[in-house]
Amino acid sequence: MKKVRKAVIPAAGFGTRFLPVTKAIPKEMLPIIDKPVIHYVVEEAINSGIEDIIFITGRGKVDIENYFDHSYELEDQLRKTGKQELLKEIEKISNLANIIYIRQKEPLGLGHAVLRAKDVVGDEPFALLLPDVLGDEKVLYTKKIIEAYQEKGKSIIGTKETTRENISKYGALSYEEGGDIFKLNNVIEKPAPDEAPSNRYIFGRYIFTPAIFACLEKTKPAQNGEIMLTDAILDLIKSEGVYGKMLEGTDFDTGDKLGYLQAMAWYGLRHNDLGEELSKYLKEINS
Ligand code: UTP
Repeated sequence: MKKVRKAVIPAAGFGTRFLPVTKAIPKEMLPIIDKPVIHYVVEEAINSGIEDIIFITGRGKVDIENYFDHSYELEDQLRKTGKQELLKEIEKISNLANIIYIRQKEPLGLGHAVLRAKDVVGDEPFALLLPDVLGDEKVLYTKKIIEAYQEKGKSIIGTKETTRENISKYGALSYEEGGDIFKLNNVIEKPAPDEAPSNRYIFGRYIFTPAIFACLEKTKPAQNGEIMLTDAILDLIKSEGVYGKMLEGTDFDTGDKLGYLQAMAWYGLRHNDLGEELSKYLKEINS
C-alpha cells in the first residue's frame, strides 16, 4: 500500500460569508491570535506525516504564497537587531513543508479545485484538508484518517455527528452500521432535516485514492454551475467503495463569523501568556 505523502488544500473560494474583509484578505489568512488559520491546517498535515502540500489558489491569494515564503528584509532586520527567537520562528514558517501552488483560474467548485491537483498527485493516495475547518492542534484529525486508510486501503471520509436541526448545513451520510470505521452507501448534500439519512456528516478531512480524479472528470456541473466533490464521492462509493471514520474533538468553521470568533476565544483561553487575562476580561464584560 502506498504511503499518504501529499495533501491538497483548496483555498481558491471567494469567502463570501466573510465579506467585506475577504475582498482584500483571503479568509485563510485571518489570524487566530498571531498565526493565520491556514498555518494551523498546514501544521496539522505536517504533524500527521504529510511531506508535500499542494495549495489550490486563485486570484487575490498571493498573501498565502508570501506567508510561506522567505521574507528576506524582515529576516535581515531581525538578525541585525539580535531578535534571535523571533527570527527562528519566522524562518521556521518558510521551511515547514515542500509547498506547491496551483491556480484554479475560476472558482468552479470544490470538485473542480481538487481536480486541478491531478497531475501533481499522480498515482498516489492523498489527503484533502479544507482550510476552513480547524481542530484542536492536539487531535490531528488527518493522522486518524490516514490510519483508517492504512487499515482499509480505501478512500476515507472524516466524519462527525451533529443534531438533526443542524444536518442541513452539511453533506449527510448513509452508512452500514459497524465500528468507528464504516462503509458508506450514499451522500446527500445539505438535506432537509427530515430527509437526512443520518446525523453523520462529511467533516473537512478526507483521504482519497487516485480513482477520485476519474470520478471528478466524469462529474457534470450542478445547477449552480459548480463541480461538486460530493457527486464524485458518490460515484467513488459505487465504483470502488468509500469508508467513513468517526472523529472526535473540538472543531471550528472559521469561514463563518461565529465559528471564527469561537476559535479565537478557544485558542485565546488556552494561550500560555494570554489565557488568564482573557478569561478575566471575558467574565468582566459578561457580568
Ligand atoms: P466554501 O464552500 O467554504 O466556499 O468552500 P468559499 O467561497 O471558500 O466560502 P463562502 O461559503 O463563499 O463563504 C470550501 C473550500 O473549497 C475551496 C474554498 O477555498 C474552501 O476552502 N474552494 C471552493 C475552492 O478552492 N474553489 C472553488 O471553486 C470553491
